Order: sequence, then C-alpha cells, then structure tokens
Amino acid sequence: MPTRRSVLAAACGAGALLAAPFRPARAEGRPPGAPAEPRPGRTVDLVLDAAERPQALPCFAGKPLPLWTFSADTALPIVRLGLGDRLRTRLVNGLTRPGEHLAIHWHGLRVPIAQDGVPYISQRPVEPGGTCDYDFVPPDTGSFFFHTHCNTVEQLGRGLAGLLIVEGDETEPYDGELVLAVRDWRIGEDGGFLPFLTDTGAGNAGSFGTVRSTNGEAAARFEVPAGADVRIRLYNVDPTRILEVGVEGAEAAVVAIDGHAVVPFPLATWRMGTAMRIDLVLRTPADGASVRLIDWRVAEPWTIATLVARGAPKRRGAFDPAPLRASRVPEPDLRGAETLRFEFASTAAAAAVAATDERFPGIDDLCLSDRTFWSINKTTWPADGHHALPPPLAVLRRGATYVFELSNISKQFHPIHFHGFAWRFLSSDRQELPPHLADTVLLVPREKRRVAFVADAPGDWMFHCHLIEHQETGMMGYVRVV
Ligand code: C2O
Ligand code: CU
Repeated sequence: MPTRRSVLAAACGAGALLAAPFRPARAEGRPPGAPAEPRPGRTVDLVLDAAERPQALPCFAGKPLPLWTFSADTALPIVRLGLGDRLRTRLVNGLTRPGEHLAIHWHGLRVPIAQDGVPYISQRPVEPGGTCDYDFVPPDTGSFFFHTHCNTVEQLGRGLAGLLIVEGDETEPYDGELVLAVRDWRIGEDGGFLPFLTDTGAGNAGSFGTVRSTNGEAAARFEVPAGADVRIRLYNVDPTRILEVGVEGAEAAVVAIDGHAVVPFPLATWRMGTAMRIDLVLRTPADGASVRLIDWRVAEPWTIATLVARGAPKRRGAFDPAPLRASRVPEPDLRGAETLRFEFASTAAAAAVAATDERFPGIDDLCLSDRTFWSINKTTWPADGHHALPPPLAVLRRGATYVFELSNISKQFHPIHFHGFAWRFLSSDRQELPPHLADTVLLVPREKRRVAFVADAPGDWMFHCHLIEHQETGMMGYVRVV
C-alpha cells in the first residue's frame, strides 16, 4: 500500500556553479545478473481514490493548492510490489467536474492491452462517480509509475500520479535507498494554478512550472548512511521539464534506465526527459559530509536533493557498484527485422487523417485539443473531427521484431514514449549512449535514433511525446499489433 519516505526539511541555497559538460558515458562495470524469477502467490490490493484535496506541500510556502491526488494520505503514493505479485487496483473517480474522466496508465509496465488505461483506445473512460478495476501481474522489476491518460496536462499538473516499484532486482543488497520524484508546479502570483496548457508553451518547449520540487520539497534533504552504496530511484514526473542530472560530492553510477538494468556506468551527467527514470548508486562520503544531486540544465543549477552522510563507514575499497538483475524483456532478433520510420515534426504541413471508430461512439472533447501543433508522420492526434479516432500509424505482426527509426525533424526535444514495450537502443546520430532498454527516449533536435523490440503483445499501443503539451496538441498516435 502507499507508503511515504520521511523527508527532512531544510533550507539549502543552490549556489552558482559552472555547468558540467555532457560527457558520453561508457560501459565499465560488471554485467547485470541473471533475470529475477517471479515468485507467484501474493495479491496486493490498491485503491486509487482520485479526488480534489487542497493541501500545502512544503514547496508551496504555506499556501494550499487544489491538488488532485489518488490518496488522502500522501500527495504521491508509492506502491511497492515483489516480482510475481498480482496487483488488483480499484480506481475511484471522486472528481466532481462534469466530464472529468479518468483511466490509469501504468507507465513502462508491460501489461496486457486491456489494462493499459487509455480512454477510447483500451477502455471506457471512468466518469466522475464511477469506478474501474485493474488486475495484472507486472512482468518486470524496476522503477515505474502511473498516471492518467486524458486531460493529462491538467490532471498531472494538479498532481495526479503515483510511483510503482517492483522489487527483486538487486544482486547484492545496497546499504540504503531513496526514491526521488522531481517535478514543477505552475503557481501564479495570486497563489492559484496557472493555465496548464498555453499556446506558446505547447508550440515550443512547453509551459514550465514556477516552483520546483523533489518529493514536494523545495530543498529536499535526506540522511543517508556514510561510506555506503546507496540506491537512488530518480523519477522525472514533470509534464514538461527536461533535467540534466549530475552528482557532486560522491562517485555515482547509473545501474538502470527506465527500470531496466544496464552495465553500471559512471554518471557524468544524464539527460532525463519527462517520464524518464534512472536508478543510481552513490558511494556516500564520510560522516557529516554531504552529496548534492543537481540539475545542470538551467542557467542557475538547481539542487534536486542534498544527502547528508551519517554514521560509521559501511564499505571499504574502490567503488564498484553491484549491478542489478538483467531485464526480462525479450531480445529482439534483428535478422530480417522490418524497419518502420516515424518522423516527429511540427504541423505546418501536417495533413489530418480521420477514420471513424465504431467501438467508442460519442467520444467527447476532453481527450481532444483543437490545437494541433505537432505530428507523427504528418498525422496529428486528434484528426480534424472531435468524433473520430485516427487510424493506427502502423500495423505490426505479433511476435516479429521491428526496428523503429525515430526522426526528430523539429527544433524541440521530444521524449517519445511507447506503451506496452521496452525499446532496445540501437543507434543515434546525435548522442553517444550506452546499450540500454527504455520506454521513453529523449530525441534531441534533428536526432535520428534506431530502437528495436519484439511485438509480442497484441493491441493498440499508444505512441506519443511525453512532453504533455506536445502530446495534447497532436504528437500522439498508436501502433496496432495483430
Ligand atoms: Cu506515461 Cu501514454 O504515457
Ligand atoms: Cu514533444
């Protein structure tokens, strides 16, 4: 059930520091262990009770805001499971605004299509007063999360999200763990929320928040064991902001990307688009010394969290963090794999293609923005009419391996997310990246990236930019696996 890590509040000024150059990371550590074996038998029941709950998070400086949350106990629930556990969820829509429907998407989890939580694509929307049940066994260990999938710019902007952690991936236990969720809040001068979607934001890099936070704190501070290997599950749960994460005061290695183990490699800085996660291991300093996680992407580097080391050192010897267990994602077979090309562009020339979908008559306006600034293969979501779903961007054969060539032909960054699968990184013509799996990949301007995966699950799988204003102004589609 939702738990919450205790947080110690403290003031902490982000000093003016020079930005660290991005150094390409090279694989150096020990290879991941054998994949974890699921242990069936346990069922975890979860209630996600969505409602408006005005509250003052510590970063709001005492002023309550009308947050939308899944729980009365915490603004951001953290659900922890073991591999093999069955998760049974009841979603209750306690929002009162007419038509404000919900559905839960389990971001990064390879669940069956019926559990994927996209209104009008994989399920009926859950209207205010309604409920909906989800029931699945997560197939992978790792750091995942969940959020809604319609009017996400506002629902996520008001806080509606939670973290989902599937344990069992450690080959050797670390000495501690922190879960850090980084996000902004769009708060106006009057203390209320600013508009979540703006035309200038949506047409460019998004509308940034005015108040930054980690776990709801403006200056998050934690105590960690000294001289120890501490795991950090770092989440970018912002709708908009890209982070460039570095660590000061400790050696650090990346051990997982989007929940999937990598050969540990030293962290120089790592660019994290929205919805992306990394797992880090830090060798903490001696008693009393501190470590800072920093976002270097901004003119004035921002401190994500300060970790203060306490106690007698736990480890001696050089820093050589234990790898995690390898992912259970099927290995693509590249021989004879078909390559499909997708172009991510702005819509000057985008032609809308519409095809009526008879499965969900009466689709409402909530899912459909009338602004279409962005496209995938010249198709925008939605197509012109507010009562039609576009056809799939591609139809794939179940069980076959596909290479997707993702081309960003715009001037903006796009964190591109694919539901239901994890992509294996093959190549990029703009970034040097280590071998890894990811459900969300950050395309830099003009980048062409190749990824591969096995289309082993049937369904209509969403494929979209996770910069939510781009998603809601057209950069969304789906791929059908039959
Ligand atoms: Cu995290 Cu379709 O989204
Ligand atoms: Cu985008």
